[in-house]
Amino acid sequence: MIIAIDGPTASGKGTISRELAAHFQLPLMDTGLLYRAVGWTVREMGGDPDSEEDALKGCIFEGALLSDPVLRNEGVGAYASKVSIHPAVRQTLNKRQKDFATQPGGAILDGRDIGTVIAPDADVKLFVTASAEARAVRRFEEMIGRGEKVNFDDILADIMKRDERDMNRSAAPLKPAEDADLLDTTDLTIGDAVQQAIALVNAKISSR
Ligand code: DC
Repeated sequence: MIIAIDGPTASGKGTISRELAAHFQLPLMDTGLLYRAVGWTVREMGGDPDSEEDALKGCIFEGALLSDPVLRNEGVGAYASKVSIHPAVRQTLNKRQKDFATQPGGAILDGRDIGTVIAPDADVKLFVTASAEARAVRRFEEMIGRGEKVNFDDILADIMKRDERDMNRSAAPLKPAEDADLLDTTDLTIGDAVQQAIALVNAKISSR
């Protein structure tokens, strides 16, 4: 069984993906980490993420050498969003993702183009969304919880900028696959969102 999960930043898709992976005992790939690793590498090299040539140089990374905490911050996220615009970067990262998706026994992948490009034949496709304001509140609380000094309006502006870039690029833009189930988490607790996701997957499995 292949489960494809797509959606914008802070929609809850990361948590939902981890919970689904545990529940259905499937290996999980957070594909955003690949783009983040490229973005991080470009930043370390002092490269320009808007340049396709520099962004491609950033693809020569050893993913295994980079730990999650190094990659999961807003600065690296912005670089990731920028390098992900370039078709040559996407092409370089696609094989790794497609191999993961087609491994025997199935897999879950989460990202922006899983249901549309990486695994168009996935058994289950979820598009997880929430309003920009709700996502900004979540990000704000997460960062305050980590003791960071942050400004709500800046976070909301960053989220809207990232949405705009991810949705309007020409190569594999963020959008629901035609056959995706939408899960709007704006008014849901994360626990309820996970329960709804599990129910959606079960419904898909039993209708096969
Ligand atoms: O899911 P995330 O916030 O870790 O992703 C970071 C950026 O990487 C996101 O803004 C766009 C890009 N990305 C992508 O283009 N395609 C994917 N499948 C996953 C992430």
